[in-house]
This record gives sequence, structure tokens and C-alpha cells, in this order.
Amino acid sequence: MSDVPDKSTFESLYAGQAPWDIGRPQKPFIDESDQIDGSVLDAGCGTGDTALFLASRGYKVTGIDFLEEPIRRAKRKALEQNLPATFLVKDATALIAWSERFDNVIDSGLFHVFSDSDRKKYVEGLATVLKSGGRLFLMCFSDEEPGTQGPRRVSQKELHDAFSDGWVVESIKTSRFKVAPNLKDFTFSEGGPKSWFAVIRRT
Ligand SMILES: C[S@@+](CC[C@H](N)C(=O)[O-])C[C@H]1O[C@@H](n2cnc3c(N)ncnc32)[C@H](O)[C@@H]1O
Repeated sequence: MSDVPDKSTFESLYAGQAPWDIGRPQKPFIDESDQIDGSVLDAGCGTGDTALFLASRGYKVTGIDFLEEPIRRAKRKALEQNLPATFLVKDATALIAWSERFDNVIDSGLFHVFSDSDRKKYVEGLATVLKSGGRLFLMCFSDEEPGTQGPRRVSQKELHDAFSDGWVVESIKTSRFKVAPNLKDFTFSEGGPKSWFAVIRRT
């Protein structure tokens, strides 16, 4: 995968084994789910496991992804699991034009896919859809993960810089992404790619 993947890269990854598609949420989203209060937007929800986990905990959840295939799979899982979640095909870099508002946003591996310019559009859109006082729970690759395979590495400074105006970075903890087993095209650190799990409040 290139540093900044395009739509067709994601389409071809979903046609095979997408490294992130592990059939359950990344652990910090399970561990920190009690911190969530109110409605939730899962931005870049993929095939919906985090959104559906939160729906199973009683949260009102909307998942968006810019590809039809993962959204189709997420809707099918929601039906199979009999869980009420809304899944929409929507570009997370265009949230500024959306009229919906949320108390929380979940980002499990989306922020780190963006170029600098898309990152800016994404954060502006988040500032629009997240209610004042609402929180963003964001997990991204860390600059402590060696190599260049997979998404962009993100430093703590980049997180502080991206969320400097109109936001408070409440915490940034180290974590690890779980990835699908036996990946052919990717090699990451033993124990999973090093990541940051950030909690960021909209002021
Ligand atoms: C690394 S995957 C993570 C998927 C899911 N959050 C998870 O944890 O399994 C990133 C997801 O973001 C989606 N994506 C990438 N760019 C996007 C954009 N501009 N708007 C919405 N979704 C996007 C991809 O299609 C992919 O499903």
C-alpha cells in the first residue's frame, strides 16, 4: 500500500483479505466504550464491527465509508445480528456539508490514510458534525511503528497540530493494532503495528 492510498487501493484490499478486517473492534474501543455518552458516528467504519459492537451496547450508531462493498457487508451483518445501526456510503472528507450532528465520533484507522490536505478537510468536517463538548476516539498508526508498509505513521505532534484549534487533546495512549493473521503483503512489528489511541474533545 502506498503512503496515501486511493479508493482503488481500498477496493482491491476488500476484494482480498483487508489487513484491518479482523471481525471485531480494535481493543481500545472495547476498553473505552464506557466513556461514550450519546450518539456515535463511526467514520471509515469498514465492514461495521466497531459500530455493531457499540450498537449491541445500546448506542445509536451511524457508520460511514466511502466504498459500497464494506457498507453492503456491514448492513448484512446488522441484519444477521439483528442490531439497529445505520450504514451510509459517504466521504469523510466532505462531512462539512452534512446536516447530521453526533455526540461522539469513532475513528478506527481512518485519520492515518489521509494526505495532509484531506486530513485538513476531514478535521474541518469533524468540527462540524461533532457537537460542542463531544469527543473523538481516534486510533492511528504511530511513528514508533518501523518501516513504511501500511498507512502513514502519525506522531503525537501531528495529532496535537491537527486538533489545535477548537479541540482539546485529552489523552494519547500507546496501543497496538490487531491485524488479520498470515498477511502475505505486509510485515508489521511483533504484537501488531504500534498505534496511538487518542481522546480529543470538541470545545
Ligand atoms: C483501515 S480501514 C479501517 C476500517 C474500520 N474502521 C476498522 O477498524 O475495521 C479504513 C477504512 O476507511 C475507509 N475510507 C478511506 N477513505 C475514506 C473516506 N475519504 N471517507 C470514508 N471512508 C474512507 C476505507 O474504505 C476503509 O474501510
